[in-house]
Amino acid sequence: MPTVTLERQGRIGVIVIDNPPVNAMSWGVPGAMIARLAEANAGGALDGIVLMGGGSGVIAGADIRQFGQPWPAGEPNLRDMITAVEASAKPVIAALKGSCLGGGLELAMACHQRVAAPKTMLGQPEIKLGFPPGAGGTQRLPRLVGAERALKMILDGNPISAIQAFEWGLIDAVLEGDLPAAAVAHARAAIAAGGPFRLVRDRASSPVPHGLFETARAEAAKRRGPQAAALASIDCVEAATTLPFDQGLAKERSAFEHCLASEDSRALRHVFFAERAAAKVPGVGEDAKPQAIASAAVIGSGTMGGGIAMCFADAGIPVRLLDADPAALQRGLATIRRNYEATAAKGRISAAEVEARMGRITPVSGFDQIGGADIIIEAVFEEMAVKTEVFAKLDANAKPGAILASNTSYLNVDAIAATIPARAGFVLGTHFFSPANVMRLLEVVRTKTASPQTLASVLALGRRLNKVPVVSGVCYGFIGNRMLEGYVRQAEFLLEEGCLPQQVDKAITGFGFPMGPFAMADMAGLDISWRKRKSQSAARDPRRRYSPIADQLCEQGRFGQKTGAGWYRYDKGSRTPLADPAVEAMIVASARSQGISRRDIGPEEITERCLYPLVNEGARILEERIAARAGDIDTVWVNGYAFPPWKGGPMHWASRLGLPKVLASITAFAKIHDGWDPAPLLVRAVQRNEGWPS
Ligand code: 3HC
Ligand code: NAI
Repeated sequence: MPTVTLERQGRIGVIVIDNPPVNAMSWGVPGAMIARLAEANAGGALDGIVLMGGGSGVIAGADIRQFGQPWPAGEPNLRDMITAVEASAKPVIAALKGSCLGGGLELAMACHQRVAAPKTMLGQPEIKLGFPPGAGGTQRLPRLVGAERALKMILDGNPISAIQAFEWGLIDAVLEGDLPAAAVAHARAAIAAGGPFRLVRDRASSPVPHGLFETARAEAAKRRGPQAAALASIDCVEAATTLPFDQGLAKERSAFEHCLASEDSRALRHVFFAERAAAKVPGVGEDAKPQAIASAAVIGSGTMGGGIAMCFADAGIPVRLLDADPAALQRGLATIRRNYEATAAKGRISAAEVEARMGRITPVSGFDQIGGADIIIEAVFEEMAVKTEVFAKLDANAKPGAILASNTSYLNVDAIAATIPARAGFVLGTHFFSPANVMRLLEVVRTKTASPQTLASVLALGRRLNKVPVVSGVCYGFIGNRMLEGYVRQAEFLLEEGCLPQQVDKAITGFGFPMGPFAMADMAGLDISWRKRKSQSAARDPRRRYSPIADQLCEQGRFGQKTGAGWYRYDKGSRTPLADPAVEAMIVASARSQGISRRDIGPEEITERCLYPLVNEGARILEERIAARAGDIDTVWVNGYAFPPWKGGPMHWASRLGLPKVLASITAFAKIHDGWDPAPLLVRAVQRNEGWPS
């Protein structure tokens, strides 16, 4: 149960909101807070009030779990709390620490002054949940920092530092040292000085740069994602500059309610909680304490190894980088440096930081030089023989208890673990996505033998590396790539049946992906999957439909962007995909040779044909317990494959469409096309009128 306490420190009352873990404004908090405020105002014992969050000091805003549930009758809410603060006869000073977000910042802005510890982050992240701020953020923030900065904070949703907030006038002081004591001292001094304690609502808005809102609207219209929330936010901030405060507030309230009820917001809130639920892994309890990881080693300095080494260096963890080929090691290091320098050129890190990060990466030439690492990740060629040879060397060289991980995309990590049985409890997969230093998804591949502590350690490490870790069981392609296969297959069949790459890509980007499957394949390089197909060609079932066009492109040396041609052609130096008549001719010829008569196919069929296989395969993955929950699958697809988060991931999307509708289409496709047998779990969920199992 949340508690709100009032403690007297001389003539200053300190009100602490204690609602672990993040002091959200859940039911009960506003009522208790209003009661404490009334007590503090009663009589003449106090001159002023300091308001803060308990525990870590974070105030995360409204309780997101309670959105969509009826607010208990008669129970005060966040807005009532804000009204009470503004009505307080004694000045209220918000003392902020950790993160002060959403409704937390809205409450702070209603106070008479705001002070913060230096590391505090302040923001209005509501847009990431699909709605504008709903408790005065769009009205008070522009009055404090100006409309331009307010718009930026509200539209990108990212928090700013306390230092920045002070420079912009959002807070009145940055306080070093023990925050409660410093805030009480600040309150005493401010009261002695007579303020100023002017409420933000009473301030006039500062002049607005010409064309600010028009430009913002034009940009919002181009933006991927929940445009309604962005446009509503712009309207509300504009209202802060044109309407009296209370009218602006009313406008914000109705925009907030409208967007909160939208499918976009529902999906984004699902993604928020699914990501956090993914951190809770069955069989990995509180007793599985993560082991300390102070150093790392990466084997293979190619595309992935280099990126993985950067992840460690970025997180401040020293890492040794080893490659069998000295020239590849030098190339890998040069690429890493180039990447850091490009980041510095964009102003995101300093030149000194480039050197600091490079300094954490030590190139080494032998396995005997990596034995001290707490975790070793291999990212060598995707061949079982090469991987097992590397693991044998790790067995011989790694210190006892070191975690040994494979970045394999498809290989059986149980089989790899079995080659070094004495260490099998420490072996698992860490499947990073390319570019590894950028993509947030980390599939943690749980072998049969990995101990709960090994898993807990890698999950904790993933978060330190700023990743979203999701545990997958062992199967071909794990969660993400296994699902991708059906998607790509259908996209290629659609070509033979009547589409062109640009039509398929357009339908998929229209759905919300940043790229369609063909532009994506050109970017990743067609040769990688070609090599895989060739190595598996002997095992291919001849009765299964197979589209040869991707192979034909590769036979012509069309590997995608890197060769200037793939599914599209590219002008020299450009990454813009251009429709290529030569590809169309190949598609038409392929269809003819297979006796397929091409027809017009609309975007709706394209979307269903490409995306329903994700749902069907996702259902199989769920039934096999490769993924522990439907939300884990959604987390993989949103963070690793750019599934539009405002659609919630494939499993959430299917639930919102209605599983009976999805099953009906899958069943209809199964009558015409190869590979559409409905997943038993999907059939059962529909028969029983249930959702995905939880
Ligand atoms: N409501 C309910 N639960 C919340 C919450 C919130 N606002 N914010 C975090 N939580 C929960 C998480 O679900 C998680 O729960 P779990 O332990 O059961 O999984 C727990 O708090 C800890 O969260 P994190 O794992 O994310 O902890 P971190 O320390 O990594 O991050 C944080 C803390 C920066 C506060 C981060 O949780 C966060 O960004 N929270 C969301 C903040 C936000 O979006 N606020 C706006 C809310 S909407 C609003 O205020 C509307 C208003 O305008 C009217
Ligand atoms: P790459 O070919 O770019 O790099 C592999 C590196 O490993 C080369 O530098 C090579 O010299 C080195 N190497 C090979 N054998 C070695 C050995 N025995 N000892 C030490 N070094 C050795 O390959 P890439 O793309 O980085 O892939 C590496 C692994 O990551 C593969 O398992 C791949 O499936 C996986 N992966 C690749 C992704 C991608 O998009 N490229 C995405 C996710 C996983």
